[in-house]
Amino acid sequence: MKIFAIGDLHLGHTVDKPMDIFGPQWKDHAGQIAENWRERVLDTDLVLVPGDVSWAMRFEEAEEDLQWLDRLPGRKVLLKGNHDYWWPSISRLRDHIRGTSLFALQYDAITIGGASVGGTRLWTMPDLEIPYEDPLEIPSTEGQGASAMPPDEKIFRRELGRLKLSLESMGREAGLRIVMTHFPPTDESGKDTALTRLLETYGVDLCVFGHLHNLGLPRGRTWDFVKKGVRYVLASCDSVDFAPYFLAEIPDIQEG
Ligand SMILES: [Fe+2]
Ligand SMILES: [Fe+2]
Repeated sequence: MKIFAIGDLHLGHTVDKPMDIFGPQWKDHAGQIAENWRERVLDTDLVLVPGDVSWAMRFEEAEEDLQWLDRLPGRKVLLKGNHDYWWPSISRLRDHIRGTSLFALQYDAITIGGASVGGTRLWTMPDLEIPYEDPLEIPSTEGQGASAMPPDEKIFRRELGRLKLSLESMGREAGLRIVMTHFPPTDESGKDTALTRLLETYGVDLCVFGHLHNLGLPRGRTWDFVKKGVRYVLASCDSVDFAPYFLAEIPDIQEG
C-alpha cells in the first residue's frame, strides 16, 4: 500500500469560489488534482487529506465535493480544517460516508492497511517557543486564569489536549504511525514546540499538515524533513504541485 498526502483541496463544486484569484497556478486546481491523482494512486492506496476539504458552508453543499473525492482512486482519510464549516458532527459524517472510500478523523485514530492515522486540526501557535516542559502536562483551559487567557491560546491548548487524546488512541502495533494536523506543528526549520515534543513522546513516524499557502517554494520542493525521529511534511495542495505527495509504501495488512 502506498501512502500519499494532499490537503487544502478547497473544493467548491456547489459554491462559486474561483481559486485562481490566488495565482495562475490555481487555475482549475480541482481538475489538476484529479488528473495527477489518477496517474499516481491505485484503489489499494491511502491518501491523507489534512483539512480545508471544501468551501461549502452547509453539509448538503459539500455532498458533491465528497462524491468527487469518493470517485478518485484509493482510500481517503479526511481531517477538518479551519475552513470546513460544512463538517457536521463526526457521527453524522461517518454515517453518511459509511461504505464509501472516505474515512473521517476527529481527534481519534483509525488503522488502515497497517498504518495508524491520528490527528486533530490544531490552531495557530500563540508562540512557537511556548515553554511546556513536560509535553504530557497539558495546561488547563478551565478554572483560575483561564478567563484571562487570550482566545487563541485557549483554542491552541484545547487542540493540544485533543492531539494527546488522538495519540493515545493510535494503534500500538501499527507498522507506521501517522498524525495529520491542519495547522503546522512546527516551522520550516523544525523548531521545537509543545506539539513536536508530544509527537516525539508518542513515537510518531510521520506528521502531515497543510494550511499554509503560496509560500513561493521552488516547484516540487515542499517542507519534508526529519527532526528527532519524526518526519514532517507540508502537503497543502499548492505546496505539492496539486498532486498527491508520496509518503511511504508499506505491506498492506488486511484488518480482521
Ligand atoms: Fe487552506
Ligand atoms: Fe486552513
